This record gives sequence, C-alpha cells and structure tokens, in this order.
Amino acid sequence: MGVGYEQTFHESITDPEKFWGAAAEKVRWYQRYDRVLNSDNPPMYRWFEGGVLNSCYNALDYHVEEGRGDQIALIYDSPVTDTITTFTYGELLDLVARCAGGLQNLGVQKGDRVIIYMPMIPEAVIAMLACARIGAVHSVVFGGFAARELATRIEDARPEIIITASCGIEVNRVIPYKPLLDAALALSSHTPSQCVFVQRQELPVDLMEGRDISWDHLMDAEPAPCVPVGSTDPLYILYTSGTTGKPKGVVRDNGGHLVALVWSMEHIYGVRPGEVYWAASDIGWVVGHSYIVYGPLFYGCTTILYEGKSVGTPDPGAFWRVIAEHDVSVLFCAPTAFRAIRREDPDGLYRKKYDLSSLKMLFLAGERCDPDTLLWAEELLGIPVIDHWWQTETGWAIGADCAGLELLPIKPGSCTRPVPGYDIHVLDDTGNELPRGEIGNIVISMPLPPGCFITLWNNDADYIRTYFTAYPGYYLTSDAGYLDEDGYLWIMGRTDDIINVAGHRLSTGAMEEVLASHPDVAECAVFGVYDPVKGEVPVGFVVLKSGHDPDAEKLQAELIALVRQKIGPIASFKSVAVVQRLPKTRSGKILRGTIKRIADGVSYTVPATIDDPAILDEITLVLQRIGYPKR
Ligand code: COA
Ligand code: AMP
Repeated sequence: MGVGYEQTFHESITDPEKFWGAAAEKVRWYQRYDRVLNSDNPPMYRWFEGGVLNSCYNALDYHVEEGRGDQIALIYDSPVTDTITTFTYGELLDLVARCAGGLQNLGVQKGDRVIIYMPMIPEAVIAMLACARIGAVHSVVFGGFAARELATRIEDARPEIIITASCGIEVNRVIPYKPLLDAALALSSHTPSQCVFVQRQELPVDLMEGRDISWDHLMDAEPAPCVPVGSTDPLYILYTSGTTGKPKGVVRDNGGHLVALVWSMEHIYGVRPGEVYWAASDIGWVVGHSYIVYGPLFYGCTTILYEGKSVGTPDPGAFWRVIAEHDVSVLFCAPTAFRAIRREDPDGLYRKKYDLSSLKMLFLAGERCDPDTLLWAEELLGIPVIDHWWQTETGWAIGADCAGLELLPIKPGSCTRPVPGYDIHVLDDTGNELPRGEIGNIVISMPLPPGCFITLWNNDADYIRTYFTAYPGYYLTSDAGYLDEDGYLWIMGRTDDIINVAGHRLSTGAMEEVLASHPDVAECAVFGVYDPVKGEVPVGFVVLKSGHDPDAEKLQAELIALVRQKIGPIASFKSVAVVQRLPKTRSGKILRGTIKRIADGVSYTVPATIDDPAILDEITLVLQRIGYPKR
C-alpha cells in the first residue's frame, strides 16, 4: 500500500494541480492538456483544458488494444426476463461502434443531444457509450418517470434522437414505454428527428412511420471510429430534482470525469482491473452512470447490469445469487435495498444458501444509512460495510472510507472522512465556520475536484445562483451535518425541499405543483416522513378552496393518481390528507420541518416565528388519523 489517507488528502488540498495532474497520467489522451486547472473564472473551473480524448476509447478500445478483448466487460443479469448474457470487451466494442455508426447515419454529430429513455437492458449501455464515441451528449431518463418528466427533459435538452424500448419490466407488471413517449412528445414543443425502439419480446409495439425506427435498423451500420473531443466538452446531461418542479440538467465533462472515476475505482473502492464490480442501481441515476457504466469500464473491470430488485425477483436471496454466480468483488447499493432484504429475511437465511467468498466490500449510498442497517449488513456478510456520501452534482463520492488508500475504523452513521479533493467545511447561516461537533451547512471550498458538474445545461446563471452564491468561495451541498473531533463527517439530511425515497432523489416542490393543479386545492404542502424500508416517503396536506366540498376519499384517490401520472410511480406518493390550514411562519413560510418532526414522532420546539401555535395540535391529530408517527 502507498501513502495513507491523511497524506493523500493533504496533498490533494494543498496542491490540487499536482495531485490531479498525476492522476491524469493514468488515462489515455489523444492530446495532452495545456493546464491541469483553469481557475481564471470562478466558479466556472475547468479541468485539463486543451486536452483531447474520447471517453468511449478509454472504456473499450484501449482495453481491447491492451489485450482485454476476451475479458467479460458486461454481464446482463435479468431475473425479470430469466436472462443472463455476457459481453466481452471485444463484443461490446463491436456493438457500440456499430451503434455509433447508426447514430451518425441518422445525422447525429458531435455536440448533439440524444435522450435515452430505457429500462436496464444492454442496449441502454451500448447507446450511452455510442454517444460518447461520436461526441454526442447523452441524457438518460429514468424509466420510472412519467410522461411529463420526460417532456421537461426533452424540452430542455432538445435531442436530435430519442432511444427507447417497447417496455420496461417491473416485479409483477410490464410497463409500456411507447404511450409515455407519445404523451411526452405531445407535451413538448421540441420534436426529435427520429425515435429508435428496442423491441422487447414481452411487448413488441407498432412503430410510427416516419418517426420511429427499430434498434436493429439502427445497428445495421458500419462501425464508427472514436471522435476526438475536448476535455471540457460535455459527455452527458443528467437531470436531477431541484427545489422547484423544473429539474436541473447537471452537465459532466469528458476529461475530469474520466480522471476522477479512474482514481475512485482504485482508491475508494479498492478494486483491481479484471475484478467484478456491481452497482445495483439504475442507469437513470448518477450511480448508474458512474459505477454501472463508466467507472468499471474505464478501469478494466467487469460490470453488472441487473434488471431486478433486492427482493421479489424472486426472493430476498436475489443479491446473494448474483454475487455468487458472477464472483462479485465489490457491491454498491442503496441502504433501502438492504432494509428490504432484512424485512423479508431478518435472520439472513437466504444468505446461507450461497458462497459469497468473492465479496470483499459493500458500499452504501444514496440516502442516510441508519447504523442499525449497517451493523446488520456487516454481521450478515462479515466484510467491511462502507457508507459513502455523494450527489448527482459531484458524480462521485464526497465523503467515504477510501478502502484503496487505507481502511479507517468505521463509525456507523458517519460516511467516514472527506474524500481527497473535497475540502469540506461546516458553516452557520451567516457563513461562520462552526466548531467540531456542531451541525450546520456543509460546503466545499472551490475548486471542486475533477468529475464534478461543470454547469447546468444552458443555464450558467442558475448554476452560479443555486450552488455558489450563498457562501462566496464555496459550493453549497444543501446537506446539513457536522465534522466530529476525529474529522469524521456526519450527514444528517437536506436543508432544502428535496427528499430521498428508497434512495431516489425527489422534489417535494414538484409534488406540490402537481397537487396545486387540482381544481379543489387552494394550498398544499408535501413533506418526507420516516419509512422503515424506503427511509422516507412523501405525505401531502391540502387545504381546499373555499366553497369546495369534494368527497374526501375520492379527492385523495385523485391526488394520488395525479402525482403518479405526472411524476411517476417512483415518487411512492400514497398518503394525502385534507387540513383546515397549514402551519406557517408570520412571513407565510410553510413549516414543513416542524410537520415532519411531528409525523416522525421526534421532539420539536415550537418555532418562535410561528403564526399560530395552536395549529400544531390540529396537525398532530390529522397525522394520527392517517397513521403517523409510525414508530
Ligand atoms: N419503471 C417503471 N416503474 C418503476 C420503475 C421503472 N424503472 N422503477 C420503479 N418503478 C415503480 C415500482 O414498480 C413501484 O410501483 P408501485 O407503486 O406500483 O409498486 C414504484 O415505482 C416504487 O418503486 P420502488 O421505489 O423501486 O419500490 P418497490 O417497492 O418496488 O421496491 C425496494 C422497494 C427497496 C426493493 C427498491 O426501492 C430498491 O431496490 N431500491 C434501491 C434504489 C436504488 O438502487 N437507488 C439508486 C441509488 S444508489
Ligand atoms: P442524488 O443526487 O440522487 O445522489 O442524491 C444526493 C443526496 O442524497 C445527498 O445530497 C444526500 O442528501 C443524500 N445522500 C446520498 N448519499 C448519502 C449518504 N451516504 N448519507 C446521507 N445522505 C446521503
């Protein structure tokens, strides 16, 4: 082992250019960069400016050239279709190059956007890498989002092409995608030149003449070579929830992303090229981008694309089956996946049926990991279980136990120490640094390390305003937490209106916009409440317009259906109650935090600024009526 955590962290902060310059030596450039970091125009930092490279080349061609052509690059394991297919680096390269050629035949050029609205099938990975190969900018949209969410993304990204599939497959139902795409295109003012459909045998669809072509048609093309792109050119846009209904288009560059992910595979996850790395997430989320697709392939690992869940496909032994069958070295998933396994198999009986000797480490992220779940997983598996903290914006971990550097003692409930490259501070609301142990706003000193977002799509102004204005010189994470006396980082929750439902990031603001669109609703509030499996689920309160007196049950059903229809089933919005009024401050701000504390059954202080304290008793009664607090 080389230098340990402390020294590495120190070097990364005191001389970031030297540190990341050394990391950049490990990736393949067509043309070396002019400077490691351009900090002339904060907060618009640029890494490896002048460098020319191709991300797909680094993920595939390079490994084939280096003799890994016959190594398995991708394992598609789909319990919902009873399929396991493997692709070597050589095979994947061939498919990706042909897909890239097909996209060029459709007129896609460097810088054009391609929306990928797909389930967890190999064609999705092939499409992402094909875009990277020709310098097109992909924007993957999670399959569980409804038409309106897809429409917003089409409207903002203005894609040349949309690639989709005839259906997705959930545990006990088939999700037709074409009606969702049709509805999204009807809502959007932008029309792509073509839509490409992967026909799945579970639900083939009729293609619309002129608009749609089949995946097979696309793939009937000559392989395309890699198109050299600039280090700071965009590789992808990934939309994530902000505090309003309009999602934020996080833009990732090519060069910084490549350097950061390669560094992370070695130093955070401690894997070696050739090992099997499994991120049990979805390509629609940032974890899927970084650690199903790019990270493992950049690093020469075998990656797994798993179309299933931790339970129900078919049982709580699903993860153990995959680990044993494919010799997984490192598993990365959300704590909620483990809470679901534990609920169905509290004594870990399924685990005993499988040989899990290949598994060296489990990494958890996406939401706060309760110590109880972490300890349960540790005891069940007998390996280090590492909670690490990150965001779509950063693209890789901000706080972690860097297993490849030095495994530090784990404190359950903490994500261990700041990752090298991230200079973390905890500030009070006026920007003063707080002493160790005190909870405040977590911020990161600029510059952010390579791999973090370089802007929001077509919206530099919102990038600067949202993330870099509150505390000059710092990136605002919008997470609250503290550093303890040992320098360990404790992430306690969001400071804005974002909630985490089963590891999925959702905006309560977006749900409020949907509720407010109902003709009977005058005012509303959505807040996250504790859930034993999903961590948090949304609950809504609505105040009716005066003179409106709808049937309460019918109204509730309509509101629940509306959120499902407009945002998607993934919101897990299943609980809404009518209230006479909402608790507010005298200046009119809804006290969502206080409502949440009452719903969670934890102690709270009546805010000094509350307009009418008596309302909290009314709210308590309403919550009790709908079953809160649950614990
Ligand atoms: N397409 C369409 N619908 C989808 C979907 C998709 N890609 N993904 C989820 N849904 C639907 C589900 O079918 C479910 O619908 P329902 O209300 O009709 O039951 C709803 O969205 C909620 O899905 P989910 O949150 O997955 O809940 P679940 O009860 O089906 O499964 C868990 C529970 C804990 C097993 C599951 O949430 C899980 O594994 N979470 C891990 C999340 C994760 O990997 N996050 C990434 C961060 S690392
Ligand atoms: P996303 O952008 O979907 O990755 O969600 C990012 C948010 O998830 C963060 O801002 C945190 O609020 C939360 N989060 C992610 N990982 C962790 C973790 N390990 N501990 C606590 N919160 C986390």
